Amino acid sequence: MSVKTIYPRAGLKGEVRVPGDKSISHRSVMFGSIALGTTEITNFLQGADCLSTIHCFQKMGIEIEKKKEGLVVHGRGLYGLSAPKETLNVGNSGTTTRLLSGILAGQGFASVLSGDESLNSRPMGRIMTPLSRMGAHIESVGSNGCAPLKIEPGALHGISYQSPVASAQVKSAILLAGLYADGDTSVTEPALSRNHTELMLGGFGAEIVSVLHEDGSATAGVRPCKQLYGQRILVPGDISSAAYFIAAGLLSQGSELLICNVGINPTRAGILKVCEAMGGDITYVNCRDMGGEPTADILVRFSELRGTTVEGRMIPTLIDEIPIIAVMAACAKGITVIKDAAELKVKETNRIDTVTENLKAMGCDATPTEDGMIIEGGKKLVGARIRSYLDHRIAMAFAVAGLLAEGETVIEDSQCVDVSYPEFFDTLSSLT
Ligand code: S3P
Repeated sequence: MSVKTIYPRAGLKGEVRVPGDKSISHRSVMFGSIALGTTEITNFLQGADCLSTIHCFQKMGIEIEKKKEGLVVHGRGLYGLSAPKETLNVGNSGTTTRLLSGILAGQGFASVLSGDESLNSRPMGRIMTPLSRMGAHIESVGSNGCAPLKIEPGALHGISYQSPVASAQVKSAILLAGLYADGDTSVTEPALSRNHTELMLGGFGAEIVSVLHEDGSATAGVRPCKQLYGQRILVPGDISSAAYFIAAGLLSQGSELLICNVGINPTRAGILKVCEAMGGDITYVNCRDMGGEPTADILVRFSELRGTTVEGRMIPTLIDEIPIIAVMAACAKGITVIKDAAELKVKETNRIDTVTENLKAMGCDATPTEDGMIIEGGKKLVGARIRSYLDHRIAMAFAVAGLLAEGETVIEDSQCVDVSYPEFFDTLSSLT
């Protein structure tokens, strides 16, 4: 097991450049592979999850070249993938599993997807139900609603699906299958989840419609597609990775950090609103558009934070940032309530449990609830041994907590940060 020891630090100064966005990187390889021609991707995230996506498409005959600046994907068109000779290994990646299932449902060959222990225990019924309704032949090999998943050829029909969860992975799986269907397909979700698929698929030439309804629910639709065409993709920095440095800059006395080139698509940027509601000093510099994705540099300065409530439609816009929001809450004055976030239970770990367990280990009053947690902030954290349970976001969130704690903090299985941010610990220790 690899461990990292974190010592308290204050006065963090400097500039941070976070790696490319994980969600956008996955999509760029997937859509590039099923598009005709070359897709050039700049600032692709070389994290383990995105490498799983690359390996899966290479096993289906797609040539993918690694360049200094990123990747070149030699796409073979909507029907150009070849049958994989072995099980497609999706590693720890839910995005690879669910989005790829949507694509595989439309292929004329059989395939099997399987991942690591955590991945193979996450719920796949949420994509199997709508894909089966479209005519896909998809089954859980162990009949437990989880991967390994076996997908066989089936003629796909368009459907209008009412998703019980606001999930970009579910929405994207259905839209991708919809490219191969014989009629229009739409997905309505209770709140708008990240919309990278809609933005990027449109750029590749798919006909996409997006509607935000008055009650906050959202519909995305796609027309059957004849062909997608290779594109140039510039991947903005990942706000989910930036979140750790935003929190470190706000929480650590005397700090001032500039986090450069961060994607701030409103369907992803809920953490920024939470920081502002908590009294965080945040300035946006150099706001610009990167291939349809709003991007900015973010300047954060040490601030006295106060507790807040995080709930409702905001949750899908910050779901991956809840571990670090919980750390901010532990250091803020007053009570923070996080609710409507039962989805936390089906992430890489049950993050209601793994966050509250580790906060308690650091001396914070944290109470798990059915759909979130209640955190009483303001007490000085004490260094502790943190069990990451191989969950990258737990390891990174509690490394930041370690900067603020008294004494030393040890992060167990710290290598799991490779999933989304291989250079995380180097960047953290480089701050002066
Ligand atoms: C992702 C969507 C989210 C998020 C995950 C990445 C994506 O999952 O938690 O890390 O790239 O579509 P859900 O769609 O399950 O909420």
